Amino acid sequence: MDAIRIYGGKRLSGQTTIQGSKNASLPILAATLLISGTCEIENCPDISDVYHMQRLLTSLGCKVEREGALVRVNTESLSECDMPSDSVGVMRSSIMLLGALLARTGYVCMENPGGCVIGARPIDLHLRMLRKMGVVIEETGTGFCAEAARLKGTVLQMPFVSVGVTENLILAAVLAQGETVIEPAAREPEIQALCEFLTGAGARIEGSGTDRLVIHGVEKLNPVRYRIPADRIVAGTYLCACMCTGGRVFLRDAPVHHMESVLETAALMGAAIEYDPEGIMVTGREHESTCHSITTGCYPAFPTDMQSPFMVVMAMSGHDGRIEETVFENRFRIVPELRKMGAGITVQGSTAYIDGNSRLHGAIVQAEELRGGAALVVAALAAEGTCIVTNRHYIDRGYEDIVLSLRDLGADIELA
Ligand code: EPZ
Repeated sequence: MDAIRIYGGKRLSGQTTIQGSKNASLPILAATLLISGTCEIENCPDISDVYHMQRLLTSLGCKVEREGALVRVNTESLSECDMPSDSVGVMRSSIMLLGALLARTGYVCMENPGGCVIGARPIDLHLRMLRKMGVVIEETGTGFCAEAARLKGTVLQMPFVSVGVTENLILAAVLAQGETVIEPAAREPEIQALCEFLTGAGARIEGSGTDRLVIHGVEKLNPVRYRIPADRIVAGTYLCACMCTGGRVFLRDAPVHHMESVLETAALMGAAIEYDPEGIMVTGREHESTCHSITTGCYPAFPTDMQSPFMVVMAMSGHDGRIEETVFENRFRIVPELRKMGAGITVQGSTAYIDGNSRLHGAIVQAEELRGGAALVVAALAAEGTCIVTNRHYIDRGYEDIVLSLRDLGADIELA
């Protein structure tokens, strides 16, 4: 079955190594299309979203091979410009390939990547900004064909901050003619990793990590070997699991310098966090929670991807609280499933109000998307009795071996 069975109530203990970042791996794998030759990507997580990205690259004629956490991509035999719709549909992040393919081949046809339950996830801003770089885009109803003899650098004034659009524009700009300014650019660590990878390949990018990127187009990029940073959202998820079970866990490789808002919130909610050069030791419930309000936002604000798991932490914190979601219009879909487990949560518009004295119990609940599914696992670890979380495939999109990792930390958990 595509499910996980958890018998809750066990305190987590021990240590786990945090996998490479999904949201850094995807744009960097797309970026290999800009480089003729073989790039080697270390610490690349073995998760289904990355698998689908590898499949898309293969369908375009690239040679992609995985050896453990090392993924080699040779793009010399890149031949196709039409992406297989079955991969594009499954893989929302296929839109990441647009900028790179236009820069490399000057022509792309693809189906619209579609949305998901957390929001419509439109691509209007991607297309609008690429048109400003000289791309001719013909929308075909179910998708579009885009063409650009040579991408032209220009000033791109963004109406709002978008991670994916910033990434796509970086990929389009590094080989474009002249200078491109992206403002305001997203500042997420995954964008900084993409800039690091491209700079290592010979790109000229200024302002990485700030909200103003200046990219000077170059003629060619060269193959590189790059190590993907640890996944800050996966680290945050294990942090939540430790807090909800009152455990004590060492999160090896946790990228603490990119987790400030998450660690600050966790400490306010009662966790003790000891810093070590190799990671963090987290003790779940050291003191009373004094955090009664969380608002998500663009980095470095509290990340929207941590909203659902922290909803569970707040429900068990002993104090009522509220969470405001400002990035996606529909990211409380997991609330009805958490309510089935006894969580006292009500939603009004973009705010969830949480009863901090919820007593969670086992139930049969279903994941509907990646981070909501992770939140159900966190809740099940702390709940009384047995929980079955169905639609495990959503969780497998972003978490490597979550059942094995949690079992190693003492959870009573198995595939169902
Ligand atoms: C990236 O999604 C991440 N995905 C998301 O992580 C993350 O939640 C999000 O950034 C915000 O941090 C990857 O990196 C693969 P956006 P992205 O463009 O790029 C709207 C996870 O769980 N928008 O910054 O799609 C959009 O609808 C995933 O790992 C438009 O309106 O996010 C949203 O409301 C979930 N038109 C807002 O912008 C567009 O053309 C911000 O989205 C593009 C976006």
